[in-house]
Amino acid sequence: MNVLDVKKLNVTYDQKGIHLFKQTPVNYAVSNVSFSIEKGKTYGLVGESGSGKSTVAHSLIGLCPIASGEIVFNGQKLNRTRQDCVEINKDIQIIFQDAYGSLNPKKKVIDIISEPIVNYETKTFDQLVERVSELLEKVGMRDDVLYRYPHEFSGGERQRIAIARALALNPKLIIADEPTSSLDTSTQARILNYMKMIQQEMNISYLFISHDLSVVSYMADHIGVLYDGQLIEEQSAHQLFKSPKHDYTKTLIKSIPSID
Ligand SMILES: Nc1ncnc2c1ncn2[C@@H]1O[C@H](COP(=O)(O)OP(=O)(O)OP(=O)(O)O)[C@@H](O)[C@H]1O
Ligand SMILES: [Mg+2]
Repeated sequence: MNVLDVKKLNVTYDQKGIHLFKQTPVNYAVSNVSFSIEKGKTYGLVGESGSGKSTVAHSLIGLCPIASGEIVFNGQKLNRTRQDCVEINKDIQIIFQDAYGSLNPKKKVIDIISEPIVNYETKTFDQLVERVSELLEKVGMRDDVLYRYPHEFSGGERQRIAIARALALNPKLIIADEPTSSLDTSTQARILNYMKMIQQEMNISYLFISHDLSVVSYMADHIGVLYDGQLIEEQSAHQLFKSPKHDYTKTLIKSIPSID
């Protein structure tokens, strides 16, 4: 069973292509991209800067308009209307590279993590404290951080807070767009391990995006290689290393210093 099917997705930032009288060629940021994510599994999207990784991510949550193609979430075709977004965005959450930019600096941890909850559910203050403490525990943090502000934490801790918030509504799919790229190696490994534990515990699917194939291969069951807006190769993580088809993939594999 797939949680997500993306079919022939085309995204363009170039609006000139739709001018009535002047037929200029359209530049696709993402062109003809199709892939599926199985329930409880991780699909890794790897590619260099500008290859269209974030564009794919953003189109899934309605942050950028799609030119054509289909997005099917849990068997339901998304139209990305406003109502759609309200209903579906409970089930699809996104984590960005820069947790500092995505956490409101003026809010305390308890308010940051409980915000999605109060948007959808009615809970007493005590219930919220309990729920937020549970979520923090999943990322290895204690409830003594509840009343602290984002600037009081390290980059890794902030990213863990962002993960806790993403988990608040029990999503079915989490899109992680370069979630650990700005962190040092050991912090990165720690966060990836939390993400793995959370996936097992909550049966969440991940779309895990990174320019780093070693990181993607650590996380993903299936890997898609994006190059210049096109998915040039897709295989199980295991198979990709065994028999890469595309030259670009071979180069990516060769550039990894050591796979473990
Ligand atoms: N808002 C925008 N307006 C116009 N063009 C854009 C916009 N966002 C992205 N692009 C272009 O779309 C293409 C894909 O960009 P995208 O950000 O999806 O790549 P990426 O793989 O996420 O790169 P990075 O690894 O640097 O995050 C690039 O050519 C980029 O210049
Ligand atoms: Mg990006």
